Amino acid sequence: MVTMETAELETDLSLFKYDSLEQLPTAYRDLDEAERTDRIETALAELGDDVVILGHNYQRREIVEHADFVGDSYQLSKEAAEADAEYVIFGGVTFMAESADIITDDEQTVILPSMEASCPMAGMAEALQVDAAWAEITAAAPDANIIPITYMNSYADLKAFCASQGGLVCTSSNAHRAFEWAFDRGDKVLFLPDKHLGENTAHRLGMEDAIAEWDPWDPEGKDATEVAESDIILWDGYCQVHERFSEEHIEQVRADDPDANVIVHPECRREVVEAADVAGSTATICDTVANAEPGETWAIGTEIHLTRHLQRWHPEVNVLPLCGDACMDCNAMRQIDPNYLTWVLEELVAGRERNVIEVAPDEKELAQVALDRMLEI
Ligand code: 13P
Ligand code: SF4
Repeated sequence: MVTMETAELETDLSLFKYDSLEQLPTAYRDLDEAERTDRIETALAELGDDVVILGHNYQRREIVEHADFVGDSYQLSKEAAEADAEYVIFGGVTFMAESADIITDDEQTVILPSMEASCPMAGMAEALQVDAAWAEITAAAPDANIIPITYMNSYADLKAFCASQGGLVCTSSNAHRAFEWAFDRGDKVLFLPDKHLGENTAHRLGMEDAIAEWDPWDPEGKDATEVAESDIILWDGYCQVHERFSEEHIEQVRADDPDANVIVHPECRREVVEAADVAGSTATICDTVANAEPGETWAIGTEIHLTRHLQRWHPEVNVLPLCGDACMDCNAMRQIDPNYLTWVLEELVAGRERNVIEVAPDEKELAQVALDRMLEI
């Protein structure tokens, strides 16, 4: 079994995994929307079948409008696996583009228009940190078979690490199946990096009493020996966009309209998911609103761009942001600026590849194992 060398805890960790960031040339900085749309369409017409654009549900309208496929992380990874275009332009964040690079053939090239689109939650569990923590936790439970599961929102080296230790990847739409897969093969699960998705999944499986939260670097927190007594160990990561939602927001929506329905993403805190009518991935949120009766009210507890898309796509449904003006956009997703999209497309027309995401070959092979295990469950 492949293992990483155990890291020093004082590793120099960086926010942006890729430091090959190419800044937008000045000529692209102030394009107006009409000109930009025209140029994007011209470039796409020239590139034809050589290019496919995948857009996550949280992308801005100006990106979503040009995407060949819009969806949640799971759907986008399936689309990437099926794409046969030479270039996959990813409207999303670094970990999604990395996954696309892992899943696509070697001859295909994945481009992330802006290299600054890095999900902060993915940065909360870097592989070197996890490797060091893994050494502690396995030493604390030497007789247990612990299976690591990483959420899709993690970097390729962590996905590779999980595969090397018999684990897999999951998204918010299949986390419960990944847990079941793991408990069929082992005694305990280490889930990274999102503690809220982990807790919500444990509840869904009736295992809420089996949880321990773990921040190995918190001197006040539990140590490895204490958490190793539990069957589900949750890494202390979270998404700040989703942590913002509270039960009070749900109470307020229901006080304003007793018939209002509430749907939230499972990255929200446990009490928010508990109080909502429905919880699910961004695809579930889209499907729920698409299937709502005209006149129904749905308050949405997720990233604000998706809520705005749903308002535009389904004007017959009353779609509200769950916490009104306080709902956040995702700072990482926002980095995919349509000016960047214009630039990378026009560069491709000129025969130049910009902002290519290329996962290192040794990481790629193992991370592919973790992703394949997910695509099979
Ligand atoms: P989905 O997998 O539901 O698309 O969510 C991805 C994400 O980043 C949520 O914050
Ligand atoms: Fe990461 Fe949260 Fe943005 Fe999703 S919404 S990409 S978890 S920061």
